[in-house]
Amino acid sequence: MRTFRMFILSLFIFNLLLVIPGTARTLTDGQIENKVNELLGKMTLKEKIGQMVQYSYSGSHGSKMQEEAIRQGLVGSFLNGESIADINRLQKIAVEETRLGIPLIFGRDVIHGFRTVLPIPLGQAASWNPHLIEAGNAIAAREARANGVHWTFAPMLDICRDPRWGRIAEGLGEDPYLASQLGAAMTRGFQGNDYSAPDRLAACAKHYVAYGAAEGGRDYNTTAVSERQLREIYLPPFRAAVNAGVATIMSAFNEIDGIPASGNQFTLRTVLRDEWQFKGFVVSDWSSMTEMLNHGFCVDEKDVALKSLTAGVDMEMVSEAYIHHLENLVNEKQIASELIDESVRNILRIKFKAGLFDNPYTPEGGEKVLLTPANQNVAREIARQSLVLLKNEKHLLPLAKNLKRIAVIGPLANAPHDQLGCWVLDGHQEYTITPLKALQDYFGKETEILFAEGLKTSRTTRTDGFDQAFKYASLADAVLLFMGEEAILSGEAHSRAFLELPGAQEKLIEEIAKLNKPTVMIILAGRPLTFHQVAEKVGAIIYAWHPGTMGGPAIVDVLFGDYAPSGKLPVSFPKTVGQIPVYYAHKNTGRPPSPNQKGIPMGTPLDPVAFVSNYLDVDVMPEYPFGYGLSYVNFEYSNLKLSTDKLKMGETLEISVQVKNSGKMAADEIVQLYIRDLVASITRPVKELKGFKRITLKPGERQVVNFKLQTDDLAFYNQQMKMMAEPGKFHLWAGKSAVDGLQAEFWIVE
Ligand code: NOJ
Repeated sequence: MRTFRMFILSLFIFNLLLVIPGTARTLTDGQIENKVNELLGKMTLKEKIGQMVQYSYSGSHGSKMQEEAIRQGLVGSFLNGESIADINRLQKIAVEETRLGIPLIFGRDVIHGFRTVLPIPLGQAASWNPHLIEAGNAIAAREARANGVHWTFAPMLDICRDPRWGRIAEGLGEDPYLASQLGAAMTRGFQGNDYSAPDRLAACAKHYVAYGAAEGGRDYNTTAVSERQLREIYLPPFRAAVNAGVATIMSAFNEIDGIPASGNQFTLRTVLRDEWQFKGFVVSDWSSMTEMLNHGFCVDEKDVALKSLTAGVDMEMVSEAYIHHLENLVNEKQIASELIDESVRNILRIKFKAGLFDNPYTPEGGEKVLLTPANQNVAREIARQSLVLLKNEKHLLPLAKNLKRIAVIGPLANAPHDQLGCWVLDGHQEYTITPLKALQDYFGKETEILFAEGLKTSRTTRTDGFDQAFKYASLADAVLLFMGEEAILSGEAHSRAFLELPGAQEKLIEEIAKLNKPTVMIILAGRPLTFHQVAEKVGAIIYAWHPGTMGGPAIVDVLFGDYAPSGKLPVSFPKTVGQIPVYYAHKNTGRPPSPNQKGIPMGTPLDPVAFVSNYLDVDVMPEYPFGYGLSYVNFEYSNLKLSTDKLKMGETLEISVQVKNSGKMAADEIVQLYIRDLVASITRPVKELKGFKRITLKPGERQVVNFKLQTDDLAFYNQQMKMMAEPGKFHLWAGKSAVDGLQAEFWIVE
């Protein structure tokens, strides 16, 4: 661990030393503004509108029309360039063959790594480790920038409380505080202090906003969230990204309470520009502007252009409302030319900051920085910190290293593409180290690895592979079941209505379980799945998400005790789809059920005790709660102390708690701090995460962990939508998860 920290530190120092002469780093914001205005003064209306247009690259043999559009100054950006040579070729047209030589900005979805694929963002979030996430995304930036990408469409900051939604994989979980901390870290990782550097990218916080609240978890679906929910739940991670200096924001596909996000003046102007003073540019999502026709919000494409620009979308991705209509709208005086100037300023400002005017081209040789051992090490470290130990009956894990035979079974044991997860435009499966490969590398001849996939893919229903799997399992000292979902089952437009392990996986597990061997199930998936029945049949469960290129070695590190698992869930796992949404920061309701009330048993007479907010057929608790994750050691919490139990407005509460590793190996713990504001003018959640710290403790070691809370940290939007803390009583917990902690109380007094 220590060596790894030194390694991360040296990466940062190396980056600080990388000062490239002539980049934006040498220009102050004021100087950039002068340059922007000078350039704007020379531009025709057509050229200005051109900057607001983003095309999807049509391929190296593709359209001459795109090249001609660049030549005429009618395009400002591309997404999905193919190679350095292609990107430079188009850039050369922009820089050398247009009147003003304004460079193009090339965007791409670098969502969780480039060639070195990191765990999916939801997996990264399970590490609860902002420093490591920053380091990981710095690697993604280095690999991508060296290969011609200037701008990534990440981080994805959509809070999601519905695992049916396929895009939950791309986000940072259910909690605004956790997602804010980690989203800001991702932004810093991509951008560093200066994204004109040759190893950094401009970032894009997306999808603004509330996209993750899609009804029924169905992608692109309607969201109905109030202003208060927006401000409390969905906006905070974006605000954190803006505070961290994010260069751009992407407006989402969804409507928000009747107004599409890409035509939403309240979110795009009032909140983003007026309240947060955002100075970067807003890009639409792919045709999210023209989709306002389908939403029934715009009458025609011209109306789309009018409403999008009025709302504050600066650049249009792929659809062509701006290029077709903005000029006429200005000439007809339906749009003030100042609005166009403002958008173009926002775009040029970022192009200057990204250093594109000084260094428009990407040198050949970008492959040299890909998949270096250092990059793979960071990917492996994130992957192992993202693994969550859900069950470990009778200390089955870690497994002994001297087993004679290990049976490796399941469709995800050797699925190099699937373990990469969704959104891997640049990840190549031939570089993936699967769990099977990692196990074969780890063990010499003394241990036999018996591999039978049992099911070809996660969705296979044919059971003809079962016999072989059963045979191998019966010969083995331990069985490793690699289950879950293949990559294609999560991500954009890949929502699911059933969340069980797909195909015949449950049957396979049940068959193997009949052998009563020490059996560990490792689940690789893009979302929380429901697997209650089979969980009872195995001794241990590790949730591995889609862990990326280095997933195999990371899983082996944990299975055999070279690393104690430390990941914690960034999202609650439902017992069944019918409980969704299930999240820890829910409200209490007027009729709260007791947490473990198991519905109403058969035969119970109709009785007022039953009139509480629960289900007849399942209790209200999740299968695994937010913040939950076991270790190989026990962490004892004691001595929770508060500096005062009466806090005056404006004061700071100091909290300390002692944590001891009472186990036999070094391990990390993520210490979590929650509060509850018991009575307020607006009802408050039953728990809210307010802080967390990842600590490393040697066997027997204790550490006092400190937190600070100011009364501002306890504020919420009151009835007048003012962010205020209110006097009154609070509960506070410091502990291992949202359901496990030492409790104290304090008051805010006037
Ligand atoms: C649509 C997706 O919603 C968005 O996340 C992505 O960045 C763009 N397409 C560009 O590929």
